Amino acid sequence: MGTWRVLVAYASRLGSTREIAQTIAQVLTRRGAVVDVLAVDQVKCLQGYQAVILGSPIREAHWLPEAIDFVWTHREVLQQLPVVYFVVSGLMSNPTPEHFHEVYACLAEVRALAEPLEMGIFAGSLEYDRLERDQVVKVLSKGLPEGDFRRWQEVRAWAEDIADRLLLELARKQAAESAKPKPPA
Ligand SMILES: Cc1cc2nc3c(=O)[nH]c(=O)nc-3n(C[C@H](O)[C@H](O)[C@H](O)COP(=O)(O)O)c2cc1C
Repeated sequence: MGTWRVLVAYASRLGSTREIAQTIAQVLTRRGAVVDVLAVDQVKCLQGYQAVILGSPIREAHWLPEAIDFVWTHREVLQQLPVVYFVVSGLMSNPTPEHFHEVYACLAEVRALAEPLEMGIFAGSLEYDRLERDQVVKVLSKGLPEGDFRRWQEVRAWAEDIADRLLLELARKQAAESAKPKPPA
């Protein structure tokens, strides 16, 4: 595989998803990818990327609106590229099957726009001191505990698997492309 360019795009309000995106990007860079890590609103165009990884935290049972808008805006390109989604969640501080189902269901709206090759679900981080009063009420009513629950080993292992999966997919695409009949010279 020659140069492979990957965009790791993220939405994040308090930074925990951004740090997960940066960790994923570090792993991909070590695996030989040329990686841009950008907030979704910094991305103008997807031209030149062979794959896109996109992540958002959940707030009130949805991805952040700017992440959904990103998928909507770029849906036609994303439908043609290997795309991977990841979601960061307070519920995954306690990863029960019920919580896993609830978090997984949040991806339905973006999956309907562009189906991903893979998905990742990670626990996030919450500091009540950094929230508005009404937000504290919301997270408490949902039973979301304060603390940093991110499991970095898990994030890195997932990113290694994603690198394998993307390299395989890109090699498959390249082989399909070179098997196409060439127009007569
Ligand atoms: C107002 C608010 C609502 C939230 N709602 C949910 C939710 O419905 N489900 C969930 O799993 N996590 C929820 N969370 C937890 C966030 O997903 C988690 O804190 C995440 O790490 C935040 O990401 P960020 O630091 O990138 O903004 C909520 C957090 C806040 C502040």
